[in-house]
Amino acid sequence: MPSASPLPIPLIATAAGPLKGRVRVPGDKSISHRALMLGALAIGETTIEGLLEGEDVLATAAAMRAFGASVARTDAGRWRVRGVGVGGFLEPEDTIDYGNSGTGARLAMGLVGSQAITATFTGDASLRSRPMGRILDPLRRMGVQVLARSKDRLPLTLKGPDITLPIEYRVPVPSARVKSAVLLAGLNTPGVTTIIEPTPTRDHTERLLQAFGAAIEIDRGEDGERIVRLEGRRDLRAQQVAIPGDPSSAAFLIVAALLIAGSELTIEAVLLNPMRTGLIETLIEMGGDIEIGNRRTLGGEAVGDIHVRASRLKGVIVPSERAPSMIDEYPALAIAAAFAEGVTVMEGIGELRLKESDRLAALAAGLGANGVAVEEGPESLAVTGGAARIGGAGVATRLDHRIGISFLVLGLAGHAPVTIDDAGPIDSHFPEFQALMNGLGAHFERAEPAAA
Ligand code: S3P
Repeated sequence: MPSASPLPIPLIATAAGPLKGRVRVPGDKSISHRALMLGALAIGETTIEGLLEGEDVLATAAAMRAFGASVARTDAGRWRVRGVGVGGFLEPEDTIDYGNSGTGARLAMGLVGSQAITATFTGDASLRSRPMGRILDPLRRMGVQVLARSKDRLPLTLKGPDITLPIEYRVPVPSARVKSAVLLAGLNTPGVTTIIEPTPTRDHTERLLQAFGAAIEIDRGEDGERIVRLEGRRDLRAQQVAIPGDPSSAAFLIVAALLIAGSELTIEAVLLNPMRTGLIETLIEMGGDIEIGNRRTLGGEAVGDIHVRASRLKGVIVPSERAPSMIDEYPALAIAAAFAEGVTVMEGIGELRLKESDRLAALAAGLGANGVAVEEGPESLAVTGGAARIGGAGVATRLDHRIGISFLVLGLAGHAPVTIDDAGPIDSHFPEFQALMNGLGAHFERAEPAAA
């Protein structure tokens, strides 16, 4: 649970024995945000099972309430949402604080942009430092007025027009959040909003829109681009949504089990949408013993049980085309690469500089401090694995839970303990992490808060 202490609490990872057991990871974050949002617009009562109850998603639940939907938790991971109907959002009485949640804030801007209301968004220091231009540009073309700080950063205010204009938008960078924000704005826009994706990205928004009964069509263009057309101003129907386990959370368990001798883990009911499985593909190429069983469909998405055994890994070149299917998993991969034989080269990953922290810089700094040879390029990272002594240094979490967790995994698999300076972001995003890992045989301990 989030700490009540105002001081950051460091977390120490010490070399662990084998990780063993069968576990589930919390629900997928991308789908959790989207399920609450579409539930808030649908007519009737949506029930959600397996919702991720981290602070990011709770911020979306609070935002949907502020826009007039009724959102209630009925049991662990089970939520009920009564929507207001497409176009029915109320003007919130206060600023919407999205905390650390880049996904929640960006998608909500799409939702709000096409409503004739005014809403102001803010967030924590990390979110306020991140430029929002790539979301705001298409919204401006749809007629949304934006008043933002320099470089389109939060806090910012959106005022939707009475009638938004449908646009055809070629997404300039592979980004599911940009695509989704435009599609969500398209829901309350008369006519057809069209998205052209030269490089496909995760398609959870499209799948959920289909399930909620939106008028959406997906085609392939002549050059292989993905074309999504959405006819707006149509009712959405409430649904029962079941959310599979988050592959981006499972990633850390998979890497830890591969690296710690004698480990054998099964992670059940993990989302296996092909746009999310790039890390598994890469780890198998590196020699990882990973098998997927019990493949099935849950909530309109492919899922399976991932069985992983400790393995000797070798370095590989990860092509830039794979980046969209593992964009959040490079921190975990960089830790696997630190223990692999040879060099792992990750190309075309400049987008990592725009996440909760500049992840390329954070990974290079943390790996270097812990004895791993690493080369940071403007859009690439090359990690040489197998150093004689890995670990022993402190790492700055940088308000980024994926950076914090990655270096904890390095500490578990390494030769000397690793301390991250702030457990807070992990507590907010993946509250079960420490207990879940310690239950499997990991060794994490909280230290005294650092003096101010
Ligand atoms: C997300 C898309 C990705 C990913 C983020 C979640 C989503 O971001 O990194 O964690 O839910 O659509 P971009 O769309 O900015 O690439």
